[in-house]
Amino acid sequence: MLLSLLTLPALVAGLPSLRSREDNAHHLPLARRTIHRRGGSVDLDRMAKSADFIRLKYGFKSADELARRASQADINIIDQGGDTSYLASINIGTPSQSLDVVLDTGSSDLWVATDRCTDCPSDTPKFDTTQSRTLNVSSQTVELSYGSGQLNGTLLQDTVSLGPYTVSGQVFTGAAQISDGLIDGSLAGILGLAFQDISVSDTTPFWQALINGGELSSPEMSFYLTRFLDTATSATETDPGGTFTLGGTNSSFYKGNIEFNAFPNGTQPSFWLQTVSDLTVNGNPVDITNPAGNIAAIDTGTALLGGPTAAVRAFWAQVNGSQELSEQNAGFWEFPCTTDISSTLAFGGTAWPISAEDMNLGQIEEGLCVGALFDLTQGAMTSPSTPQWIVGDTFLKNVYTVFRAGDSPAVGFAELANGLNN
Ligand SMILES: *[C@@H]1O[C@H](CO)[C@@H](O)[C@H](O)[C@H]1NC(C)=O
Ligand SMILES: *[C@@H]1O[C@H](CO)[C@@H](O)[C@H](O)[C@H]1NC(C)=O
Ligand SMILES: *[C@@H]1O[C@H](CO)[C@@H](O)[C@H](O)[C@H]1NC(C)=O
Ligand SMILES: *[C@@H]1O[C@H](CO)[C@@H](O)[C@H](O)[C@H]1NC(C)=O
Ligand SMILES: *[C@@H]1O[C@H](CO)[C@@H](O)[C@H](O)[C@H]1NC(C)=O
Repeated sequence: MLLSLLTLPALVAGLPSLRSREDNAHHLPLARRTIHRRGGSVDLDRMAKSADFIRLKYGFKSADELARRASQADINIIDQGGDTSYLASINIGTPSQSLDVVLDTGSSDLWVATDRCTDCPSDTPKFDTTQSRTLNVSSQTVELSYGSGQLNGTLLQDTVSLGPYTVSGQVFTGAAQISDGLIDGSLAGILGLAFQDISVSDTTPFWQALINGGELSSPEMSFYLTRFLDTATSATETDPGGTFTLGGTNSSFYKGNIEFNAFPNGTQPSFWLQTVSDLTVNGNPVDITNPAGNIAAIDTGTALLGGPTAAVRAFWAQVNGSQELSEQNAGFWEFPCTTDISSTLAFGGTAWPISAEDMNLGQIEEGLCVGALFDLTQGAMTSPSTPQWIVGDTFLKNVYTVFRAGDSPAVGFAELANGLNN
């Protein structure tokens, strides 16, 4: 919406002058010069070039530019800390500064650490606000909260790009204060990929600005996320994290059909919502009946898989030797490390398998490992509009995921291509 607001005045301003010139166009030498004949037939190529010349003169986009713009692109993902976060490098400012941010379909704001951040880790790469000549600074303050911490900052506006795509007036938050442990390593912020409805700064998310600007050939974002959890000893601080396809899907990463499911009836696009229809463990169904519903946020920015209390308890009740942890670890379960937990999750159709490696977060004490399915709601009755499930990377590593906006927003899953995470 921001992009269209910026470009709209230019179009509206351009129209009246175009009309008044069209009224007497046949009197203008310019109009005569647009007709070119070669051997009696119309020289379409030269006519098209002339039309583009006129379009540009009046502030419209050339046909060439429009044809070239709608596209899709693959962007490399970085797997940070053995499947803890999945990052991509964005560029901000002029000249551009490259920063790694979490690709987060579970939030809708963009923020980065800046040189003005008083308590960001000293080795965190930061956006140097003194070095961008296109930066606009506002005095509006914003507070953002995440599962892993919160931050304070002010709204900034600058050119932001990801892969080949650029939004010239992207509004984002420059962090001034952040809570401990929110970012580490090369991580400098978060790129929200959910809908504006849940944007705390109420600004158009970067990806929506690209769609509004007609940059993408289809309003889709697709993820193949790598798994390094099973090779914990060889996982390094940063590993190849897979591929983020902006503007479409890439058939190199999946096989068979992509099964799309619409958002739950009666919900608005806010998070990327689905309804959990079935959960199984070791081949047995888990009773997920929940009076508050089973609405799930499909969230690339969350490492784990969270669900409502009763369903999570029913799941672990079927894993021999499992036991809930206590105190600050309440809501997590431990189980014998020798147990391979096979489970599936469905959203109205296919039961998608979750690998035993992803269910096992690693050893917590002699012979006992922590499970990735945790109690999200801790007994609280959430409102029907609040997701009762957070479906994060524990699940998403097992499928190819497509987030599709537009008139009928949907989330699609497909089997990963042979050789990927399997
Ligand atoms: C943000 O500001 C609020 C209000 O001033 C303060 O209570 C909070 O601790 C700050 N949060 C962080 C992460 O600095
Ligand atoms: C900065 O603000 C001005 C005035 O509102 C605007 O024309 C310009 O596009 C903004 N710059 C960026 C990079 O957004
Ligand atoms: C899909 O991904 C493959 C493998 O990375 C790449 O070679 C190919 O160019 C991509 N296709 C499209 C349409 O982007
Ligand atoms: C959701 O709405 C669609 C279309 O109106 C309808 O076909 C479907 O039965 C509804 N589903 C539920 C669970 O109510
Ligand atoms: C769990 O324990 C029960 C009772 O000891 C046993 O019958 C069952 O086979 C075990 N299940 C698995 C998956 O090991």
